[in-house]
Amino acid sequence: KECFSKYRKDIFFFFFILVCDPADVISTVEFNQTGEFLATGDKGGRVVIFQREPQGEYNVYSTFQSHEPEFDYLKSLEIEERINKIRWLPLHNPAHFLLATNDKTIKLWKVSERDKRAEGYNLRDEEGRLKDLSTVTTLQVPVLRPMDLLVEASPRRVFANAHAYHINSISVNSDCETYLSADDLRINLWNLNITDRSFNIVDLKPENMEDLSEVITVAEFHPHHCHLLAFSSSTGTTRLCDMRASALCDQHAKLFEEVVDPSHRSFFSEIVSSVSDVKFSHSGRYLLTRDYLTVKVWDLNMENKPVETYQVHDYLRTKLCSLYESDCIFDKFECAWNGTDSVIMTGAYNNYFRMFDRASLRDVTLEASREVCKRRAVLQPRRVCVGKKQKETDVSVDSLDFRKKILHTAWHPKENIIAIAASNNLYIFQDRLTPNGHHNTPEIQSAPPKWQTQPNPPTY
Ligand SMILES: *[C@@H]1O[C@H](CO)[C@@H](O)[C@H](O)[C@H]1NC(C)=O
Ligand SMILES: *[C@@H]1O[C@H](CO)[C@@H](O)[C@H](O)[C@H]1NC(C)=O
Ligand SMILES: *[C@@H]1O[C@H](CO)[C@@H](O)[C@H](O)[C@H]1NC(C)=O
Repeated sequence: KECFSKYRKDIFFFFFILVCDPADVISTVEFNQTGEFLATGDKGGRVVIFQREPQGEYNVYSTFQSHEPEFDYLKSLEIEERINKIRWLPLHNPAHFLLATNDKTIKLWKVSERDKRAEGYNLRDEEGRLKDLSTVTTLQVPVLRPMDLLVEASPRRVFANAHAYHINSISVNSDCETYLSADDLRINLWNLNITDRSFNIVDLKPENMEDLSEVITVAEFHPHHCHLLAFSSSTGTTRLCDMRASALCDQHAKLFEEVVDPSHRSFFSEIVSSVSDVKFSHSGRYLLTRDYLTVKVWDLNMENKPVETYQVHDYLRTKLCSLYESDCIFDKFECAWNGTDSVIMTGAYNNYFRMFDRASLRDVTLEASREVCKRRAVLQPRRVCVGKKQKETDVSVDSLDFRKKILHTAWHPKENIIAIAASNNLYIFQDRLTPNGHHNTPEIQSAPPKWQTQPNPPTY
């Protein structure tokens, strides 16, 4: 279970051992609607929930095994336990509910707390054994006594057997009654209470699989209009569908696509234009899409081109050939909005992640790695240079480590707190507090704010 990695420095080679269990690699991160909870899923099928303490730090609240490896005997295929997506249900109930999915099966989990225990039963003793009835001479009323807090996760529903291909997305509808699940070719709509049937609302499967030219990469419901959903594809397009128009949404209502000048097309054009993530803004007005080299903001009212395009790592344009050979070109980076839709975040290589301030057009590259994330460390901006280094801290394109990638990120819905998954490490950063304990005024001129690790980064 040890993976060896090779670190090249000048002409010397150093080898060091990363004792990392591949099952620990984080595959998704998601805040709940108030940001008090943060859930991660990993390749080993586990879900870990972190809770924000009153002092502001996130600590482990509950860990449970959501999915187990399975075998599909009909197709002779192994079904991995890896958690592809987690979505919280927006319920205001003492218990919390979340959906977690692997490639084939979606599960609804209930996470609840118990801090009281019933004692003083008439027929059973404290261990639950039946009492000798001849000793029972009086009746007593059982009482609830406090006990250590126990967090229990229990599977409530299992939504299985509805996907022939791998599930890449789940999204809870704003009606709080339905959700969608999307695989490579189809999108299904479920009622949260009904596990034995779902409705197919998008089907891209051609009659003849040889005509297949496009796969669904990601899908999401609109945050406020329960009849609208968006899905993106491997050809770089994003479609908006309106479920009021017809039961089957194969005919999109809108198609967001930027026409590329044919003279700029290359072998890699389609691969790098494949959309790896789509997110509606909190306002519902915009769509954010991530492709291999850029993040784009689309106005729902304008289909022919994005209103904003940000280069994530343009310096990789000359390296596409080797990125193709190493399969890195197929990495699926996610993207996130901040709570006011004013800043965009997405991941990159070398454990770097990028933030773009939409108003000031400033951007920053930051690094999430064990070396820089000491207790209360303030993150320093990084710079990747193509030619000669200008500063000691600059990093040349040729020394980027493409095995270190930040694919999964999440932004707290209301505050400047972000969660970054880098392999088996989870980093939580928050904007720095000034000495008197107040947040830096989030002024654009100093934006993005200084990001600081939480005092005790949770070890995953
Ligand atoms: C998110 O989690 C917090 C922490 O327990 C809870 O108080 C809050 O109600 C949750 N929000 C939603 C919308 O479920
Ligand atoms: C699910 O069933 C419960 C009661 O069994 C009901 O209160 C709830 O509204 C139902 N939810 C949906 C989404 O139909
Ligand atoms: C991002 O959104 C949060 C929540 O609305 C806001 O407080 C913060 O100032 C925004 N961040 C920036 C850098 O504008």
